[in-house]
Amino acid sequence: MKHLIFAGFRQRYFDVLASIYLYNEFRGYTSLDRVLEAVRLRCPDDPAFQAEIEKHRADEHKHYRMFRRWFERQGRMPLVVDRGVGHIDRFIQWVFQCSIDELDTAKIVATPDQFEQLCRVIMLTEQRGYAQVEIILKNRLIMSDPVMKRIFQIVHKDEPDHFLPYQRWLERHGRATARWNERAADWTIHKVLMLGKLPALFLDSGRERMTHWPDEDPAAYAH
Ligand SMILES: [Fe+2]
Ligand SMILES: [Fe+2]
Repeated sequence: MKHLIFAGFRQRYFDVLASIYLYNEFRGYTSLDRVLEAVRLRCPDDPAFQAEIEKHRADEHKHYRMFRRWFERQGRMPLVVDRGVGHIDRFIQWVFQCSIDELDTAKIVATPDQFEQLCRVIMLTEQRGYAQVEIILKNRLIMSDPVMKRIFQIVHKDEPDHFLPYQRWLERHGRATARWNERAADWTIHKVLMLGKLPALFLDSGRERMTHWPDEDPAAYAH
Protein backbone atom coordinates (compact mmCIF):
# COMPACT_ATOMS: atom_id res chain seq x y z
CA MET A 1 0.00 0.00 0.00
CA LYS A 2 2.74 2.39 1.05
CA HIS A 3 4.57 1.45 -2.09
CA LEU A 4 1.53 2.23 -4.24
CA ILE A 5 1.05 5.63 -2.64
CA PHE A 6 4.67 6.49 -3.27
CA ALA A 7 4.44 5.31 -6.91
CA GLY A 8 1.38 7.52 -7.41
CA PHE A 9 3.08 10.49 -5.76
CA ARG A 10 6.20 9.98 -7.84
CA GLN A 11 4.31 9.77 -11.13
CA ARG A 12 2.28 12.87 -10.32
CA TYR A 13 5.42 14.77 -9.35
CA PHE A 14 7.11 13.90 -12.65
CA ASP A 15 3.99 14.77 -14.64
CA VAL A 16 3.77 18.20 -13.03
CA LEU A 17 7.48 18.93 -13.39
CA ALA A 18 7.63 17.76 -17.02
CA SER A 19 4.42 19.62 -17.95
CA ILE A 20 5.85 22.88 -16.60
CA TYR A 21 9.18 22.31 -18.35
CA LEU A 22 7.51 21.36 -21.63
CA TYR A 23 5.57 24.63 -21.53
CA ASN A 24 8.63 26.75 -20.73
CA GLU A 25 10.80 25.11 -23.39
CA PHE A 26 8.07 25.57 -25.99
CA ARG A 27 7.54 29.17 -24.95
CA GLY A 28 11.31 29.65 -25.00
CA TYR A 29 12.00 28.62 -28.57
CA THR A 30 8.88 30.18 -30.03
CA SER A 31 9.48 33.51 -28.25
CA LEU A 32 13.07 33.57 -29.44
CA ASP A 33 11.75 33.98 -32.96
CA ARG A 34 10.52 37.42 -31.87
CA VAL A 35 13.84 38.21 -30.24
CA LEU A 36 15.79 37.14 -33.33
CA GLU A 37 13.63 39.40 -35.45
CA ALA A 38 14.48 42.33 -33.14
CA VAL A 39 18.19 41.51 -32.98
CA ARG A 40 18.55 41.21 -36.76
CA LEU A 41 17.13 44.72 -37.07
CA ARG A 42 18.90 46.24 -34.06
CA CYS A 43 22.31 44.62 -34.61
CA PRO A 44 22.56 43.93 -38.37
CA ASP A 45 26.37 44.20 -38.19
CA ASP A 46 26.73 41.69 -35.38
CA PRO A 47 26.33 38.25 -36.99
CA ALA A 48 28.10 36.57 -34.05
CA PHE A 49 25.39 37.78 -31.64
CA GLN A 50 22.69 36.63 -34.06
CA ALA A 51 24.32 33.22 -34.33
CA GLU A 52 24.40 32.88 -30.54
CA ILE A 53 20.67 33.52 -30.36
CA GLU A 54 20.03 31.06 -33.19
CA LYS A 55 21.92 28.47 -31.15
CA HIS A 56 19.87 29.40 -28.10
CA ARG A 57 16.67 28.83 -30.06
CA ALA A 58 17.89 25.48 -31.40
CA ASP A 59 18.75 24.34 -27.85
CA GLU A 60 15.33 25.24 -26.45
CA HIS A 61 13.70 23.39 -29.34
CA LYS A 62 15.85 20.36 -28.54
CA HIS A 63 14.84 20.58 -24.85
CA TYR A 64 11.19 20.75 -25.84
CA ARG A 65 11.57 17.60 -27.92
CA MET A 66 13.29 15.76 -25.05
CA PHE A 67 10.39 16.44 -22.68
CA ARG A 68 7.85 15.53 -25.35
CA ARG A 69 9.71 12.28 -25.94
CA TRP A 70 9.68 11.59 -22.20
CA PHE A 71 5.88 11.84 -22.16
CA GLU A 72 5.61 9.69 -25.27
CA ARG A 73 7.68 6.97 -23.62
CA GLN A 74 5.40 7.15 -20.58
CA GLY A 75 2.33 6.83 -22.80
CA ARG A 76 0.72 9.92 -21.27
CA MET A 77 0.03 13.45 -22.44
CA PRO A 78 1.18 16.48 -20.43
CA LEU A 79 -1.17 18.17 -17.97
CA VAL A 80 -3.04 21.21 -19.21
CA VAL A 81 -1.18 24.35 -18.09
CA ASP A 82 -1.32 27.98 -19.16
CA ARG A 83 0.84 31.09 -19.22
CA GLY A 84 0.65 31.24 -15.45
CA VAL A 85 3.47 28.66 -15.28
CA GLY A 86 5.68 30.55 -17.72
CA HIS A 87 8.57 32.40 -16.09
CA ILE A 88 9.25 34.45 -19.24
CA ASP A 89 5.53 35.21 -19.71
CA ARG A 90 5.25 36.64 -16.22
CA PHE A 91 8.53 38.55 -16.54
CA ILE A 92 7.59 40.14 -19.88
CA GLN A 93 4.17 41.04 -18.51
CA TRP A 94 5.82 42.67 -15.48
CA VAL A 95 8.40 44.68 -17.40
CA PHE A 96 6.53 45.52 -20.63
CA GLN A 97 2.95 45.29 -19.36
CA CYS A 98 1.89 43.10 -22.24
CA SER A 99 2.04 39.44 -23.27
CA ILE A 100 4.90 38.03 -25.35
CA ASP A 101 2.62 37.90 -28.39
CA GLU A 102 1.79 41.57 -27.96
CA LEU A 103 5.43 42.71 -27.79
CA ASP A 104 5.98 45.45 -30.33
CA THR A 105 9.24 44.37 -31.95
CA ALA A 106 9.60 47.56 -34.02
CA LYS A 107 9.23 49.73 -30.93
CA ILE A 108 11.73 47.65 -28.98
CA VAL A 109 14.25 47.92 -31.79
CA ALA A 110 13.80 51.69 -32.00
CA THR A 111 14.06 52.23 -28.23
CA PRO A 112 17.53 51.35 -26.85
CA ASP A 113 16.25 51.19 -23.28
CA GLN A 114 13.61 48.63 -24.19
CA PHE A 115 15.99 46.48 -26.18
CA GLU A 116 18.40 46.38 -23.24
CA GLN A 117 15.54 45.55 -20.93
CA LEU A 118 14.55 42.65 -23.16
CA CYS A 119 18.14 41.35 -23.06
CA ARG A 120 18.14 41.56 -19.27
CA VAL A 121 14.81 39.76 -18.94
CA ILE A 122 16.07 36.86 -21.06
CA MET A 123 19.41 36.81 -19.23
CA LEU A 124 17.79 36.71 -15.78
CA THR A 125 15.26 34.08 -16.85
CA GLU A 126 18.03 31.84 -18.16
CA GLN A 127 20.23 32.38 -15.09
CA ARG A 128 17.26 31.35 -13.00
CA GLY A 129 16.80 28.28 -15.19
CA TYR A 130 20.44 27.33 -14.70
CA ALA A 131 20.23 27.67 -10.90
CA GLN A 132 17.04 25.60 -10.89
CA VAL A 133 18.62 22.78 -12.88
CA GLU A 134 21.52 22.70 -10.40
CA ILE A 135 18.95 22.11 -7.62
CA ILE A 136 17.18 19.43 -9.69
CA LEU A 137 20.43 17.57 -10.32
CA LYS A 138 20.76 17.15 -6.54
CA ASN A 139 17.18 15.92 -6.13
CA ARG A 140 17.25 12.15 -5.55
CA LEU A 141 13.63 11.61 -6.54
CA ILE A 142 14.08 13.27 -9.94
CA MET A 143 17.44 11.60 -10.47
CA SER A 144 15.79 8.20 -9.88
CA ASP A 145 14.34 8.37 -13.40
CA PRO A 146 17.28 7.67 -15.73
CA VAL A 147 15.76 9.42 -18.73
CA MET A 148 14.88 12.50 -16.70
CA LYS A 149 18.39 12.51 -15.25
CA ARG A 150 19.89 12.49 -18.73
CA ILE A 151 17.54 15.27 -19.90
CA PHE A 152 18.53 17.55 -17.02
CA GLN A 153 22.23 16.83 -17.53
CA ILE A 154 21.89 17.98 -21.15
CA VAL A 155 19.88 21.06 -20.13
CA HIS A 156 22.54 21.92 -17.53
CA LYS A 157 25.31 21.69 -20.11
CA ASP A 158 23.44 23.91 -22.61
CA GLU A 159 22.23 26.53 -20.17
CA PRO A 160 25.30 28.85 -19.87
CA ASP A 161 25.07 29.51 -23.63
CA HIS A 162 21.60 30.92 -22.97
CA PHE A 163 22.45 33.81 -20.69
CA LEU A 164 26.07 34.62 -21.58
CA PRO A 165 25.34 36.09 -25.05
CA TYR A 166 22.94 38.67 -23.58
CA GLN A 167 25.19 39.37 -20.60
CA ARG A 168 28.20 39.93 -22.88
CA TRP A 169 26.18 42.14 -25.22
CA LEU A 170 25.13 44.33 -22.29
CA GLU A 171 28.72 44.47 -21.03
CA ARG A 172 30.10 45.28 -24.49
CA HIS A 173 27.70 48.21 -24.71
CA GLY A 174 28.46 49.38 -21.19
CA ARG A 175 24.96 48.69 -19.91
CA ALA A 176 23.92 47.55 -16.46
CA THR A 177 23.54 43.78 -16.49
CA ALA A 178 20.60 43.88 -14.11
CA ARG A 179 18.72 46.36 -12.00
CA TRP A 180 17.68 45.62 -8.43
CA ASN A 181 13.98 45.81 -9.30
CA GLU A 182 14.41 43.35 -12.18
CA ARG A 183 16.21 40.93 -9.88
CA ALA A 184 13.41 41.36 -7.35
CA ALA A 185 10.82 40.65 -10.05
CA ASP A 186 12.68 37.51 -11.11
CA TRP A 187 12.90 36.31 -7.50
CA THR A 188 9.21 36.96 -6.83
CA ILE A 189 8.09 35.20 -10.02
CA HIS A 190 10.21 32.19 -9.12
CA LYS A 191 8.61 32.00 -5.66
CA VAL A 192 5.09 32.30 -7.10
CA LEU A 193 5.82 29.42 -9.46
CA MET A 194 7.50 27.13 -6.94
CA LEU A 195 5.33 27.81 -3.90
CA GLY A 196 2.01 28.54 -5.60
CA LYS A 197 1.67 27.17 -9.12
CA LEU A 198 3.60 23.92 -8.74
CA PRO A 199 1.84 22.63 -5.59
CA ALA A 200 -1.56 23.75 -6.92
CA LEU A 201 -1.03 21.75 -10.09
CA PHE A 202 0.18 18.77 -8.09
CA LEU A 203 -2.94 18.75 -5.92
CA ASP A 204 -5.41 19.44 -8.73
CA SER A 205 -6.38 15.80 -9.29
CA GLY A 206 -9.09 16.72 -11.80
CA ARG A 207 -6.61 18.50 -14.04
CA GLU A 208 -7.07 17.39 -17.63
CA ARG A 209 -4.38 16.29 -20.03
CA MET A 210 -3.52 18.03 -23.25
CA THR A 211 -5.03 16.56 -26.39
CA HIS A 212 -2.52 18.02 -28.87
CA TRP A 213 1.20 18.75 -28.94
CA PRO A 214 1.91 22.48 -29.11
CA ASP A 215 4.44 22.14 -31.94
CA GLU A 216 1.73 20.50 -34.07
CA ASP A 217 -1.18 22.65 -33.01
CA PRO A 218 -0.46 26.30 -32.09
CA ALA A 219 -3.71 26.40 -30.09
CA ALA A 220 -2.76 23.31 -28.04
CA TYR A 221 -2.36 25.31 -24.83
CA ALA A 222 -5.78 26.85 -25.32
CA HIS A 223 -7.62 23.54 -25.85
FE1 LIG B 1 15.70 24.98 -22.05
FE1 LIG C 1 17.55 27.85 -21.59
